[in-house]
Amino acid sequence: MCGIVGYIGEAQAAPILLDGLSRLEYRGYDSAGIAVYDGTDIQVKKATGRLKVLSELTHDGVTMPGTLGIGHTRWATHGAPTDANAHPHYNSTETIAVVHNGIIENYLKVKKRLQDKGYEFQSETDTEVVAHLLDYYYKGEPIEAITKVMLRLEGSYALGIIFRDHPDVLYAVRKDSPLIVGKGAEGNLIASDVPAVLKYTREVYFIQNEEIAVLNKEDISFRNVDGEPIEKEAATIEWDINAAEKGGYEHFMLKEIYEQPKTVRDTLNPRLKDGRIVIEELGMTDEEIRAIQKIHIVACGSAYHTGVTAKYVFEGLARIPVEVDLASEFRYRNPILEEGALVIIISQSGETADSLAALREAKTRGIQTLGIVNVVGSSIAREADKVMYTWAGPEIAVATTKAYSAQLVAQYLLALKFAQVRGTVTDQECEGMIGDLKKLPEQIELLLGSKERIQRFANRYVAARDVFFIGRGIDYAISLEGSLKLKEISYIHSEAYAAGELKHGTISLIEEGTLVAAVATQEALYKKTISNIVEVRTRGAFVMAVTNTGNTEIEKAADYVIYIPQTNRYFTNSLAIIPLQLFSYYVSVGRGCDVDKPRNLAKSVTVE
Ligand code: G6P
Repeated sequence: MCGIVGYIGEAQAAPILLDGLSRLEYRGYDSAGIAVYDGTDIQVKKATGRLKVLSELTHDGVTMPGTLGIGHTRWATHGAPTDANAHPHYNSTETIAVVHNGIIENYLKVKKRLQDKGYEFQSETDTEVVAHLLDYYYKGEPIEAITKVMLRLEGSYALGIIFRDHPDVLYAVRKDSPLIVGKGAEGNLIASDVPAVLKYTREVYFIQNEEIAVLNKEDISFRNVDGEPIEKEAATIEWDINAAEKGGYEHFMLKEIYEQPKTVRDTLNPRLKDGRIVIEELGMTDEEIRAIQKIHIVACGSAYHTGVTAKYVFEGLARIPVEVDLASEFRYRNPILEEGALVIIISQSGETADSLAALREAKTRGIQTLGIVNVVGSSIAREADKVMYTWAGPEIAVATTKAYSAQLVAQYLLALKFAQVRGTVTDQECEGMIGDLKKLPEQIELLLGSKERIQRFANRYVAARDVFFIGRGIDYAISLEGSLKLKEISYIHSEAYAAGELKHGTISLIEEGTLVAAVATQEALYKKTISNIVEVRTRGAFVMAVTNTGNTEIEKAADYVIYIPQTNRYFTNSLAIIPLQLFSYYVSVGRGCDVDKPRNLAKSVTVE
């Protein structure tokens, strides 16, 4: 969630740092700062709030001359978002500066020890202990100090470090927090994420746990935790830099909503071959697939919601029992994981701390793990036994849309593949479902085509106080995501309920005019959901229903109906979520909210 950028080269560092940080704004932050070596000293400037405050403070970096520097955008964990707590942090003599992502878990103990030795602290952060600890161990040889510090820190860190006495070197190190090194034509860079360096280079090195990167103007070398040299190979990033920019849409979120037909197509197409499902990178034999006794789907946020849907799909198609868990619960609940279990971790970023911890928990227990991940080379992708990628490309808006859609179809494919191998669907049924999957992209396009109607409806609800989403079965899973989308970007209180559960409490909250979004895409459950619609409507609710084309009966019960095209009952989420995403988006725009960067939220939650 925090962002790191560092530069050493021929050019002025500060403007490059500011530009790099701006590419990482999507990660969520509340303050920013940069440190630049000016030929004599290390200068630091920090500012609470948006990056533009820091840019103004430094005249876009012009007032901070120097060709070596580090920058940071901070999302507060230890200590409030203030200038003092913003990074970079110095040692007492201001000869060492540090930026940090992650959490130093033993920082209080280390801080106390340092204070006993006379060190004075300027901030409440865990990061500042790193600067002072480096100072404590520094005897003229940075690598030696860094490796000693690494051995004493517990927790996670990606660090960018500069030493006043070594102005021709930029140091970087990581453990359980992402960090990359970019080899540029006019200098070298470090960053917590690829978009920060794309303007300068496509050649990057992924730093692994407990590795140190040593960057000069021209050279890059790597060391292990013992300070010994190691070899690494550069990878070439194929992303287009435009893919990380808005491309003409008012917000990244809208752009990403519109990218969904492509995302779904990209995730499906390479895996649909001659009427069969081929997931090459999965690397599971038919025997392994047949041996699965139980699936545990573990994830956070919207990724978790895709898992709630997938439970119905895996159980319905492949007849494998599925448990779905929030990663933050799974990791601490001592789950019963027996032989023959498969743990599926779903994550856009591949870096979500709880999901990563859940993955490690499963691995420790000797259980087979599969990551469904968007970011290639991310921690979950690297650590899971098997990986299936969603091909959604970089997602910038904090509220996920296209990655969510890609996660859904990835799981449909997997469920259908498992069903095919285990013989729980006939070839004919499978063919029919593949046909339905192939139609999804154009059906999503069709739904996107009616955005004006949704926009007009959304405009009526910009002042809503509470909104309730109801549905049964997969429609409940859709409701969970519809509700989360609305509340996270519009700040309107909203809740999702299994429609049959309403009468056990929630119905007392329904008042004259309360908006209830009822999702009814499961034919077998239409009548039941219609009864629930009637229940809330007679208590004054205004009901917006999302249902399948042809289910006109619902018009008698609901006030406003949105129809989705016909598809297989297991795949309706991919269509029903589109109007709900658009609804949330337009309510958020209508309320003047920061759509792409909602308050208090981060895109990639790398702390628990
Ligand atoms: C954050 C994001 C959500 C996302 C969740 C899980 O809360 O704002 O959109 O669903 O993290 O992230 P992941 O990267 O693991 O899918």
